Amino acid sequence: MSKNNFPPARILGIESSCDETAASVVEDGRMVLSNVVASQEEIHAKYGGVFPEVASRQHIKTVYTVVEEALAQAHVGLDDIDAIAVTRGPGLAGSLVVGLNMAKGMALGSGKPLIGINHLEGHLYSAWIDPAENIEDQKTPPEFPVLALIVSGGHTELILIKDHLDYERLGGTLDDAAGEAFDKVARLLGIGYPGGPAVQKTAKEGDINAFRFPRAMMKGTWDFSFSGVKTSVLTKVKELRADLGESENDENVDLPVNDLAASFQQAVVEVLVNKTRSAAQEYQAKEMLIAGGVSANELLREKITVGAPGRVHIPPLKYCTDNAAMIAAAGYYRFVHGHVSDLAMDAMPTWPLSEI
Ligand code: KG4
Ligand code: ZN
Repeated sequence: MSKNNFPPARILGIESSCDETAASVVEDGRMVLSNVVASQEEIHAKYGGVFPEVASRQHIKTVYTVVEEALAQAHVGLDDIDAIAVTRGPGLAGSLVVGLNMAKGMALGSGKPLIGINHLEGHLYSAWIDPAENIEDQKTPPEFPVLALIVSGGHTELILIKDHLDYERLGGTLDDAAGEAFDKVARLLGIGYPGGPAVQKTAKEGDINAFRFPRAMMKGTWDFSFSGVKTSVLTKVKELRADLGESENDENVDLPVNDLAASFQQAVVEVLVNKTRSAAQEYQAKEMLIAGGVSANELLREKITVGAPGRVHIPPLKYCTDNAAMIAAAGYYRFVHGHVSDLAMDAMPTWPLSEI
Protein backbone atom coordinates (compact mmCIF):
# COMPACT_ATOMS: atom_id res chain seq x y z
CA MET A 1 0.00 0.00 0.00
CA SER A 2 1.12 3.55 -0.68
CA LYS A 3 1.09 6.25 1.97
CA ASN A 4 -2.44 7.15 0.82
CA ASN A 5 -3.75 3.73 1.85
CA PHE A 6 -4.49 3.17 -1.81
CA PRO A 7 -2.44 0.70 -3.87
CA PRO A 8 0.70 2.06 -5.54
CA ALA A 9 0.42 3.01 -9.21
CA ARG A 10 2.38 5.00 -11.73
CA ILE A 11 0.27 7.09 -14.09
CA LEU A 12 1.21 8.85 -17.31
CA GLY A 13 -0.85 12.04 -17.71
CA ILE A 14 -1.44 13.91 -20.97
CA GLU A 15 -3.00 17.39 -21.20
CA SER A 16 -3.84 19.39 -24.34
CA SER A 17 -7.12 21.16 -23.57
CA CYS A 18 -5.98 24.70 -24.37
CA ASP A 19 -2.59 26.08 -25.36
CA GLU A 20 -0.25 23.91 -23.30
CA THR A 21 0.91 20.50 -24.52
CA ALA A 22 1.89 18.64 -21.38
CA ALA A 23 2.84 15.17 -20.18
CA SER A 24 3.86 13.90 -16.77
CA VAL A 25 4.53 10.74 -14.81
CA VAL A 26 3.15 10.70 -11.27
CA GLU A 27 3.50 7.98 -8.67
CA ASP A 28 0.75 7.20 -6.13
CA GLY A 29 -1.14 10.37 -7.04
CA ARG A 30 1.44 12.64 -5.40
CA MET A 31 5.06 12.04 -6.38
CA VAL A 32 5.91 13.85 -9.61
CA LEU A 33 8.60 11.94 -11.52
CA SER A 34 8.45 14.28 -14.51
CA ASN A 35 6.43 17.29 -15.58
CA VAL A 36 6.94 18.51 -19.14
CA VAL A 37 5.00 21.51 -20.47
CA ALA A 38 5.35 22.99 -23.95
CA SER A 39 3.65 26.37 -23.83
CA GLN A 40 2.28 28.07 -26.93
CA GLU A 41 2.10 31.41 -25.15
CA GLU A 42 4.48 33.19 -27.53
CA ILE A 43 2.62 31.91 -30.58
CA HIS A 44 -0.76 33.18 -29.34
CA ALA A 45 0.56 36.46 -27.94
CA LYS A 46 0.33 38.09 -31.35
CA TYR A 47 -3.39 37.28 -31.52
CA GLY A 48 -3.99 38.56 -27.97
CA GLY A 49 -5.67 35.26 -27.06
CA VAL A 50 -5.68 31.55 -27.90
CA PHE A 51 -6.31 30.92 -31.61
CA PRO A 52 -7.99 27.47 -31.59
CA GLU A 53 -6.94 26.27 -35.04
CA VAL A 54 -3.33 27.27 -34.43
CA ALA A 55 -3.42 25.63 -30.99
CA SER A 56 -4.51 22.21 -32.23
CA ARG A 57 -1.93 22.16 -35.01
CA GLN A 58 0.78 23.10 -32.54
CA HIS A 59 -0.32 20.25 -30.23
CA ILE A 60 0.06 17.84 -33.14
CA LYS A 61 3.61 19.00 -33.68
CA THR A 62 4.69 18.73 -30.05
CA VAL A 63 2.65 16.02 -28.35
CA TYR A 64 4.86 13.09 -29.32
CA THR A 65 8.09 14.76 -28.16
CA VAL A 66 6.49 16.00 -24.95
CA VAL A 67 5.28 12.51 -24.01
CA GLU A 68 8.63 10.95 -24.92
CA GLU A 69 10.40 13.56 -22.81
CA ALA A 70 8.11 12.95 -19.82
CA LEU A 71 8.87 9.21 -19.90
CA ALA A 72 12.60 9.85 -20.36
CA GLN A 73 12.81 12.35 -17.49
CA ALA A 74 10.97 9.91 -15.23
CA HIS A 75 13.40 7.16 -16.32
CA VAL A 76 10.53 4.85 -17.19
CA GLY A 77 9.19 3.11 -20.25
CA LEU A 78 5.56 2.42 -21.09
CA ASP A 79 5.94 -1.01 -19.46
CA ASP A 80 6.48 0.70 -16.10
CA ILE A 81 3.23 2.67 -16.38
CA ASP A 82 0.00 1.33 -14.88
CA ALA A 83 -2.47 3.56 -16.72
CA ILE A 84 -2.69 6.49 -19.12
CA ALA A 85 -4.78 9.46 -17.99
CA VAL A 86 -5.77 12.13 -20.50
CA THR A 87 -7.82 15.32 -20.40
CA ARG A 88 -11.17 14.65 -22.06
CA GLY A 89 -12.67 18.09 -21.45
CA PRO A 90 -13.66 20.82 -20.94
CA GLY A 91 -11.53 22.68 -23.44
CA LEU A 92 -11.05 23.40 -27.13
CA ALA A 93 -12.36 20.45 -29.17
CA GLY A 94 -9.55 20.53 -31.72
CA SER A 95 -6.93 20.66 -28.97
CA LEU A 96 -8.49 17.95 -26.81
CA VAL A 97 -8.58 15.38 -29.62
CA VAL A 98 -4.83 15.61 -30.13
CA GLY A 99 -4.03 14.52 -26.55
CA LEU A 100 -6.89 12.03 -26.61
CA ASN A 101 -5.70 10.36 -29.77
CA MET A 102 -2.13 10.20 -28.52
CA ALA A 103 -3.34 8.55 -25.31
CA LYS A 104 -5.63 6.17 -27.19
CA GLY A 105 -2.82 5.11 -29.50
CA MET A 106 -0.55 4.44 -26.54
CA ALA A 107 -3.25 2.56 -24.67
CA LEU A 108 -4.04 0.45 -27.72
CA GLY A 109 -0.40 -0.31 -28.43
CA SER A 110 0.53 -1.13 -24.85
CA GLY A 111 -2.68 -2.68 -23.55
CA LYS A 112 -2.61 -0.26 -20.60
CA PRO A 113 -5.89 1.16 -19.29
CA LEU A 114 -7.03 4.57 -20.55
CA ILE A 115 -8.68 7.08 -18.18
CA GLY A 116 -10.47 10.22 -19.41
CA ILE A 117 -10.10 13.09 -16.95
CA ASN A 118 -12.11 16.24 -16.40
CA HIS A 119 -9.70 19.19 -16.61
CA LEU A 120 -11.30 20.86 -13.57
CA GLU A 121 -10.87 17.71 -11.51
CA GLY A 122 -7.23 17.86 -12.60
CA HIS A 123 -6.91 21.42 -11.26
CA LEU A 124 -8.36 20.25 -7.92
CA TYR A 125 -5.77 17.49 -7.69
CA SER A 126 -2.95 19.98 -8.11
CA ALA A 127 -3.34 20.37 -4.32
CA TRP A 128 -2.32 16.74 -3.84
CA ILE A 129 0.80 16.67 -5.95
CA ASP A 130 4.44 16.99 -5.21
CA PRO A 131 5.10 17.10 -1.47
CA ALA A 132 8.74 17.81 -2.38
CA GLU A 133 7.73 21.15 -3.89
CA ASN A 134 5.24 22.16 -1.23
CA ILE A 135 5.88 24.30 1.82
CA GLU A 136 6.14 22.47 5.14
CA ASP A 137 2.52 22.55 6.31
CA GLN A 138 1.27 21.32 2.92
CA LYS A 139 3.37 18.19 2.68
CA THR A 140 0.46 16.06 3.84
CA PRO A 141 -2.60 15.88 1.59
CA PRO A 142 -5.71 18.03 2.09
CA GLU A 143 -8.24 16.80 4.64
CA PHE A 144 -11.91 16.52 3.65
CA PRO A 145 -14.23 18.32 3.45
CA VAL A 146 -12.26 20.86 1.41
CA LEU A 147 -13.68 24.06 -0.05
CA ALA A 148 -12.06 24.63 -3.43
CA LEU A 149 -11.85 27.68 -5.63
CA ILE A 150 -10.87 27.00 -9.23
CA VAL A 151 -9.91 30.21 -10.98
CA SER A 152 -8.55 30.05 -14.51
CA GLY A 153 -8.91 31.62 -17.92
CA GLY A 154 -12.05 29.60 -18.58
CA HIS A 155 -13.47 28.92 -15.12
CA THR A 156 -14.35 30.36 -11.76
CA GLU A 157 -15.91 27.62 -9.67
CA LEU A 158 -16.60 27.07 -5.99
CA ILE A 159 -16.61 23.38 -5.19
CA LEU A 160 -17.06 21.42 -2.00
CA ILE A 161 -14.87 18.30 -2.12
CA LYS A 162 -16.44 15.82 0.28
CA ASP A 163 -14.09 12.97 -0.46
CA HIS A 164 -11.98 11.71 -3.34
CA LEU A 165 -14.06 12.02 -6.54
CA ASP A 166 -17.07 13.31 -4.59
CA TYR A 167 -17.87 16.92 -5.44
CA GLU A 168 -20.67 19.39 -4.93
CA ARG A 169 -20.56 22.41 -7.20
CA LEU A 170 -21.72 25.42 -5.20
CA GLY A 171 -21.49 28.09 -7.87
CA GLY A 172 -19.51 29.64 -10.65
CA THR A 173 -19.24 32.65 -12.86
CA LEU A 174 -22.33 33.77 -14.73
CA ASP A 175 -20.28 35.64 -17.33
CA ASP A 176 -16.50 36.16 -17.56
CA ALA A 177 -14.10 33.85 -15.75
CA ALA A 178 -11.72 35.64 -13.37
CA GLY A 179 -8.72 34.98 -15.64
CA GLU A 180 -10.68 36.19 -18.64
CA ALA A 181 -11.34 39.47 -16.82
CA PHE A 182 -7.60 39.81 -16.11
CA ASP A 183 -6.85 39.10 -19.78
CA LYS A 184 -9.44 41.59 -21.07
CA VAL A 185 -8.39 44.36 -18.70
CA ALA A 186 -4.72 43.80 -19.61
CA ARG A 187 -5.61 44.17 -23.29
CA LEU A 188 -7.59 47.31 -22.52
CA LEU A 189 -4.65 48.79 -20.65
CA GLY A 190 -2.25 47.67 -23.38
CA ILE A 191 0.06 45.94 -20.91
CA GLY A 192 0.59 42.55 -22.51
CA TYR A 193 -0.50 38.93 -22.82
CA PRO A 194 -1.32 36.78 -20.92
CA GLY A 195 -3.14 39.34 -18.86
CA GLY A 196 -2.90 37.92 -15.34
CA PRO A 197 0.86 38.17 -14.89
CA ALA A 198 0.88 41.54 -16.72
CA VAL A 199 -1.78 43.03 -14.42
CA GLN A 200 -0.01 41.66 -11.35
CA LYS A 201 3.30 43.21 -12.42
CA THR A 202 1.79 46.57 -13.35
CA ALA A 203 -0.29 46.65 -10.15
CA LYS A 204 2.85 46.48 -8.02
CA GLU A 205 3.57 50.13 -8.84
CA GLY A 206 -0.02 51.27 -8.37
CA ASP A 207 -2.39 52.45 -5.64
CA ILE A 208 -5.18 49.99 -4.78
CA ASN A 209 -7.40 52.86 -3.64
CA ALA A 210 -6.93 55.09 -6.69
CA PHE A 211 -10.20 53.90 -8.23
CA ARG A 212 -13.17 52.19 -6.65
CA PHE A 213 -14.31 49.39 -8.94
CA PRO A 214 -17.43 47.37 -8.07
CA ARG A 215 -17.26 44.18 -6.02
CA ALA A 216 -20.10 41.94 -7.21
CA MET A 217 -20.60 39.87 -4.08
CA MET A 218 -23.82 38.31 -5.45
CA LYS A 219 -25.43 37.82 -2.04
CA GLY A 220 -27.57 34.72 -1.59
CA THR A 221 -25.76 32.67 -4.21
CA TRP A 222 -22.28 31.21 -4.62
CA ASP A 223 -22.12 32.50 -8.18
CA PHE A 224 -19.73 35.16 -9.44
CA SER A 225 -19.91 37.90 -12.04
CA PHE A 226 -16.87 39.73 -13.39
CA SER A 227 -18.28 41.52 -16.40
CA GLY A 228 -19.32 44.51 -14.25
CA VAL A 229 -15.83 45.19 -12.94
CA LYS A 230 -14.40 44.79 -16.44
CA THR A 231 -16.94 47.24 -17.91
CA SER A 232 -16.28 49.62 -15.08
CA VAL A 233 -12.55 49.66 -15.93
CA LEU A 234 -13.45 50.26 -19.58
CA THR A 235 -15.73 53.17 -18.66
CA LYS A 236 -13.05 54.68 -16.44
CA VAL A 237 -10.43 54.36 -19.21
CA LYS A 238 -12.76 56.10 -21.68
CA GLU A 239 -13.40 58.86 -19.18
CA LEU A 240 -9.70 59.35 -18.50
CA ARG A 241 -8.92 59.39 -22.22
CA ALA A 242 -11.61 61.99 -22.86
CA ASP A 243 -10.17 64.15 -20.07
CA LEU A 244 -6.73 63.82 -21.63
CA GLY A 245 -8.06 64.53 -25.11
CA GLU A 246 -6.77 61.14 -26.33
CA SER A 247 -8.49 58.96 -28.88
CA GLU A 248 -9.08 55.22 -28.42
CA ASN A 249 -6.24 54.42 -30.78
CA ASP A 250 -3.63 56.39 -28.91
CA GLU A 251 -1.09 54.48 -26.86
CA ASN A 252 -1.74 54.34 -23.12
CA VAL A 253 1.16 56.65 -22.36
CA ASP A 254 -0.80 59.05 -20.20
CA LEU A 255 -3.17 56.61 -18.56
CA PRO A 256 -2.50 55.74 -14.92
CA VAL A 257 -2.22 52.04 -15.84
CA ASN A 258 -0.50 51.15 -12.56
CA ASP A 259 -3.36 52.52 -10.48
CA LEU A 260 -5.99 51.05 -12.78
CA ALA A 261 -4.37 47.60 -12.62
CA ALA A 262 -3.92 47.75 -8.83
CA SER A 263 -7.50 48.86 -8.18
CA PHE A 264 -8.90 46.25 -10.57
CA GLN A 265 -6.84 43.41 -9.10
CA GLN A 266 -7.87 44.42 -5.59
CA ALA A 267 -11.57 44.34 -6.50
CA VAL A 268 -11.37 40.88 -8.12
CA VAL A 269 -9.28 39.33 -5.35
CA GLU A 270 -11.56 40.71 -2.62
CA VAL A 271 -14.57 39.03 -4.22
CA LEU A 272 -12.76 35.72 -4.70
CA VAL A 273 -11.45 35.65 -1.13
CA ASN A 274 -14.69 36.76 0.55
CA LYS A 275 -16.89 34.28 -1.25
CA THR A 276 -14.50 31.37 -0.80
CA ARG A 277 -14.18 32.13 2.92
CA SER A 278 -17.93 32.44 3.42
CA ALA A 279 -18.57 29.19 1.58
CA ALA A 280 -15.92 27.39 3.65
CA GLN A 281 -17.60 28.63 6.80
CA GLU A 282 -21.12 27.81 5.65
CA TYR A 283 -20.21 24.25 4.62
CA GLN A 284 -17.89 23.73 7.59
CA ALA A 285 -14.96 22.84 5.39
CA LYS A 286 -11.89 21.75 7.28
CA GLU A 287 -9.49 23.21 4.75
CA MET A 288 -9.48 25.29 1.58
CA LEU A 289 -7.65 25.07 -1.70
CA ILE A 290 -7.15 27.32 -4.67
CA ALA A 291 -6.23 26.08 -8.13
CA GLY A 292 -6.05 27.18 -11.77
CA GLY A 293 -4.03 29.86 -13.53
CA VAL A 294 -5.30 32.78 -11.45
CA SER A 295 -4.21 31.01 -8.25
CA ALA A 296 -0.71 32.06 -9.35
CA ASN A 297 -1.74 35.60 -8.40
CA GLU A 298 0.38 36.86 -5.50
CA LEU A 299 -2.33 39.02 -3.95
CA LEU A 300 -4.83 36.15 -4.00
CA ARG A 301 -2.25 33.73 -2.54
CA GLU A 302 -1.55 36.17 0.28
CA LYS A 303 -5.11 37.28 1.07
CA ILE A 304 -6.69 33.83 1.05
CA THR A 305 -4.45 32.63 3.88
CA VAL A 306 -4.79 35.61 6.24
CA GLY A 307 -6.84 34.49 9.23
CA ALA A 308 -7.98 31.26 7.53
CA PRO A 309 -9.29 28.74 10.08
CA GLY A 310 -7.49 25.72 8.57
CA ARG A 311 -4.77 25.10 6.02
CA VAL A 312 -5.17 26.69 2.62
CA HIS A 313 -3.57 24.56 -0.06
CA ILE A 314 -1.91 26.70 -2.68
CA PRO A 315 -0.14 24.88 -5.49
CA PRO A 316 3.42 25.82 -6.40
CA LEU A 317 3.31 28.17 -9.40
CA LYS A 318 4.15 25.50 -11.96
CA TYR A 319 1.05 23.51 -10.96
CA CYS A 320 -1.32 26.51 -11.04
CA THR A 321 -1.35 26.90 -14.80
CA ASP A 322 -2.17 23.97 -17.06
CA ASN A 323 0.04 20.92 -16.61
CA ALA A 324 -0.24 17.14 -16.89
CA ALA A 325 0.92 16.24 -13.37
CA MET A 326 -2.49 17.28 -12.08
CA ILE A 327 -4.15 15.10 -14.75
CA ALA A 328 -1.98 12.12 -13.77
CA ALA A 329 -2.82 12.72 -10.08
CA ALA A 330 -6.55 12.79 -10.78
CA GLY A 331 -5.99 9.73 -12.99
CA TYR A 332 -4.44 7.89 -10.05
CA TYR A 333 -7.48 8.42 -7.83
CA ARG A 334 -9.79 7.36 -10.68
CA PHE A 335 -7.59 4.31 -11.37
CA VAL A 336 -7.51 3.08 -7.76
CA HIS A 337 -11.29 3.46 -7.64
CA GLY A 338 -11.61 1.20 -10.68
CA HIS A 339 -12.50 3.82 -13.28
CA VAL A 340 -11.40 2.98 -16.81
CA SER A 341 -12.56 4.64 -20.03
CA ASP A 342 -13.52 3.14 -23.32
CA LEU A 343 -11.14 3.45 -26.27
CA ALA A 344 -14.06 4.98 -28.17
CA MET A 345 -14.44 7.89 -25.73
CA ASP A 346 -15.04 11.24 -27.34
CA ALA A 347 -13.76 14.67 -26.32
CA MET A 348 -16.16 16.71 -24.17
CA PRO A 349 -15.51 20.41 -24.90
CA THR A 350 -18.15 21.41 -22.34
CA TRP A 351 -18.18 19.09 -19.33
CA PRO A 352 -19.22 20.51 -15.96
CA LEU A 353 -17.62 18.91 -12.92
CA SER A 354 -21.13 18.21 -11.65
CA GLU A 355 -21.64 15.78 -14.54
CA ILE A 356 -18.67 13.49 -14.12
O1 KG4 B 1 -5.38 27.33 -15.76
P1 KG4 B 1 -4.89 28.12 -16.91
O2 KG4 B 1 -3.44 27.97 -17.30
O3 KG4 B 1 -5.71 27.82 -18.20
C1 KG4 B 1 -7.08 27.62 -18.20
O4 KG4 B 1 -7.51 26.45 -17.93
O5 KG4 B 1 -7.79 28.62 -18.44
O6 KG4 B 1 -5.22 29.66 -16.59
C2 KG4 B 1 -4.83 30.71 -17.44
C3 KG4 B 1 -5.36 32.02 -16.85
C4 KG4 B 1 -5.17 33.23 -17.78
O7 KG4 B 1 -6.38 33.95 -17.84
C5 KG4 B 1 -4.08 34.05 -17.08
O8 KG4 B 1 -4.18 35.44 -17.33
C6 KG4 B 1 -4.35 33.73 -15.63
O9 KG4 B 1 -4.67 32.35 -15.63
N1 KG4 B 1 -3.18 33.98 -14.77
C7 KG4 B 1 -3.17 34.91 -13.79
C8 KG4 B 1 -1.85 34.91 -13.26
N2 KG4 B 1 -1.11 33.98 -13.93
C9 KG4 B 1 -1.95 33.41 -14.85
N3 KG4 B 1 -4.12 35.73 -13.34
C10 KG4 B 1 -3.81 36.57 -12.33
N4 KG4 B 1 -2.57 36.66 -11.79
C11 KG4 B 1 -1.57 35.84 -12.21
N5 KG4 B 1 -0.36 35.94 -11.67
ZN1 ZN C 1 -6.77 24.98 -16.73
